[in-house]
Amino acid sequence: METATTTAEGLGQNLVDPGGYCNAATDHGIDFAKMLEVKPRPMQPIHTNRSFDERALSELISSGLSSPRPLRQLETVKSSECLEGLLLSPSIRSGSLVGTPNMHHSFEPHPMISDGWDALRRTLVYFRSKPVGTIAAMDPSEDSLNYNQVFVRDFVPSALAFLMNGEPEIVKNFLLKTLRLQSIEKRIDCFTLGEGVMPASFKVLHDPIRKTDTMIADFGESAIGRVAPVDSGFWWIILLRAYVKSTGDHNLADMPDCQRGITLILTLCLSDGFDTFPTLLCADGCCMVDRRMGIYGYPIEIQSLFFMALRSAKILLKPEGEGKEFLGRIDKRLHALSFHIREYFWLDHAQLNNIYRYKTEEYSHTAVNKFNVIPDSIPDWVFDFLPMKGGYFIGNVSPALMDFRWFAIGNCMAILSSLATPDQATAIMDLFEERWPELIGDMPLKVTYPALEGHDWRIVTGCDPKNTRWSYHNGGSWPVLLWMLTAACIKVGRPQIARRAIEQVEQRLSKDGWPEYYDGKLGRYVGKQARKFQTWSIAGYLVAKMMLEDPSHLGMIGLEEDKKMKKPCLTRSASWTA
Ligand code: GLC
Repeated sequence: METATTTAEGLGQNLVDPGGYCNAATDHGIDFAKMLEVKPRPMQPIHTNRSFDERALSELISSGLSSPRPLRQLETVKSSECLEGLLLSPSIRSGSLVGTPNMHHSFEPHPMISDGWDALRRTLVYFRSKPVGTIAAMDPSEDSLNYNQVFVRDFVPSALAFLMNGEPEIVKNFLLKTLRLQSIEKRIDCFTLGEGVMPASFKVLHDPIRKTDTMIADFGESAIGRVAPVDSGFWWIILLRAYVKSTGDHNLADMPDCQRGITLILTLCLSDGFDTFPTLLCADGCCMVDRRMGIYGYPIEIQSLFFMALRSAKILLKPEGEGKEFLGRIDKRLHALSFHIREYFWLDHAQLNNIYRYKTEEYSHTAVNKFNVIPDSIPDWVFDFLPMKGGYFIGNVSPALMDFRWFAIGNCMAILSSLATPDQATAIMDLFEERWPELIGDMPLKVTYPALEGHDWRIVTGCDPKNTRWSYHNGGSWPVLLWMLTAACIKVGRPQIARRAIEQVEQRLSKDGWPEYYDGKLGRYVGKQARKFQTWSIAGYLVAKMMLEDPSHLGMIGLEEDKKMKKPCLTRSASWTA
């Protein structure tokens, strides 16, 4: 088996050190979000004549930093106003306190916070004495398998925690090291992978005798099932934008190496092929759900990340040379992608009723049931699950296939990227409230719902003993998802939902040893094969807490609605009136 290795000497060279972080960003009141979201460069002057609403909200949020109960106020903010105000406030924090959370507590912090920070710092991985990531789990009782690696997706909540705590250095190191890994040749057996592929994970080997550090990356060639990490490149772009947004340091993203890293990732997913859809065609297990779970095709998690990565790349790319050409392609794809997902992946009561009454075998442009979905294929559980109020993006759409399962990451990231329209985002929040026991249960948050059982489990998972019903990826509950839920709740102006979920987490997570996942319909049991001290369970909690305490952090990971993007005009009811 080939392993992509690169030594200490090969890494980290030829990289421009962007130096210090932009101090101007510490000045509250700068319309930073607008600069990053719309026209990231050149720097624009400070807006001093903001509207009353904007002023009132940003004042509310900055006053919330020092008031003992800031979040009570936030609950009264309407959703459309919410992000606007939050993104106005630059999320810059300066000065890192080694060993202590650099948080601005105005009331007694929960003991889990300091436990969490201690545990998170124990997971740091160093390369040539510099922190470059966090390992997936520090479980002393379990065989580590690949959990002793730095996973790109797992590092995201750690990175956000460090950024929110004013410690951007590790994030910069991580971004640069993974960029170096991207540029090495990747092979599986005799096959060479695309140039832009980012690793799923890497580990650092220290040789104490030769005093060298070696990085060993996995692009899927060692992973169980040889699954492709399609999400890694997207997370990398999203994290780069979070870093820029948080620090105000444009230099890192502007480096030719970073610009090239972005365009290499984009080349992979914007290339022309046989597709009739703007969504990205993927193999099973290509993302957080990294085992066979019947998500091949067009899984919602990848589509939401794809959308968010495209929007982030649009902010980061310099409008010159190759970048300029890519910006045009990004716009076209965003337009088509948002239409497709908002129109065809969306499910609410009215839409379910439409599908239930679909005609089939429709041909030509006038077809309403475009994918020829047979109404008999709608599983029974959907009719009970879908409330009158609420909706969500279903798991997958392709010819004659609608996977009606709920997937948390795809839906939360759709809210954060504004792939979901404001109405759809509100409906997803309504669904959380209406279906609390199913989606949140005793331990937030179900990664998918419902579980595959019996014959379905045998056929779809290939009899996977780890993905038995209501366990792991198959209906298990993953505390890491708390940060995404919290961010989405704040964006939609419903932080009370997040607060309720966090309170539930605080009852058990640390006492249980920060497990990776919980089992059972309600998520009541520590997962059968769950690792303890799973890093992203820890970081996810810390990020959720920091965001609730200071909602301006949302700007790092939330994107405002792009008003120019086409809204779907729903004409489906013609199916049965034709
Ligand atoms: C599991 C998860 C995957 C994660 C890895 C390391 O395999 O499914 O998403 O990256 O563990 O924590």
